[in-house]
Amino acid sequence: MPQLLHETTNGNYFLSTNQQLIDIETVHRFLSDTSSWARGIPRSTVEEAIQNSLCFGLYEDGALLAFCRIVTDGATFGNLVDVFVQPDLRGRGLSKMLMAFVMSHPLIPRLRRLTLATTDAHGLYDQFGFRPLGKPETFMEVYRPDIYRAS
Ligand SMILES: CC(C)(COP(=O)(O)OP(=O)(O)OC[C@H]1O[C@@H](n2cnc3c(N)ncnc32)[C@H](O)[C@@H]1OP(=O)(O)O)[C@@H](O)C(=O)NCCC(=O)NCCS
Repeated sequence: MPQLLHETTNGNYFLSTNQQLIDIETVHRFLSDTSSWARGIPRSTVEEAIQNSLCFGLYEDGALLAFCRIVTDGATFGNLVDVFVQPDLRGRGLSKMLMAFVMSHPLIPRLRRLTLATTDAHGLYDQFGFRPLGKPETFMEVYRPDIYRAS
């Protein structure tokens, strides 16, 4: 995935799409141990996914506080996934800062469609222009929610 480098500062926070800055251990620990959607995901799968995505990190003193990534062709379509803020730092506006940074990326206005799936955070994404599917009946999926769980 081309880097499509985009960076900014906001107070003490630094936001960047630079993959070299990402603390993969932190991302893997959250996804594997805490997330509701990727429990048990192998570290190698997280590394591969990060390498092949447009990733967004929010940092303070080099520490990764919040993360998300867009799976994209870099030209027409994107799917926003793996959005999280470190559990002890929630409720301070960090996800809104991260989403504002995501939506300021120069790729975003060029995409014909940007999707995401969320269980209960619709009110967050609504603030950044996301709306319920206009024609949900046109979407289909192959969905394997338990793919990383030990059988
Ligand atoms: C959801 C999450 C990213 C929010 O991060 P946060 O930094 O605590 O959120 P913020 O302080 O930036 O505030 C989020 C805004 O979205 C709104 N919101 C709507 N649904 C929400 C939800 N389920 N959780 C948190 N905020 C929500 C809040 O009211 C707030 O808006 P307001 O300030 O205008 O009232 C964070 O709780 C998280 O990492 N959760 C676990 C992972 C997850 O569920 N990710 C989303 C999957 S799509």
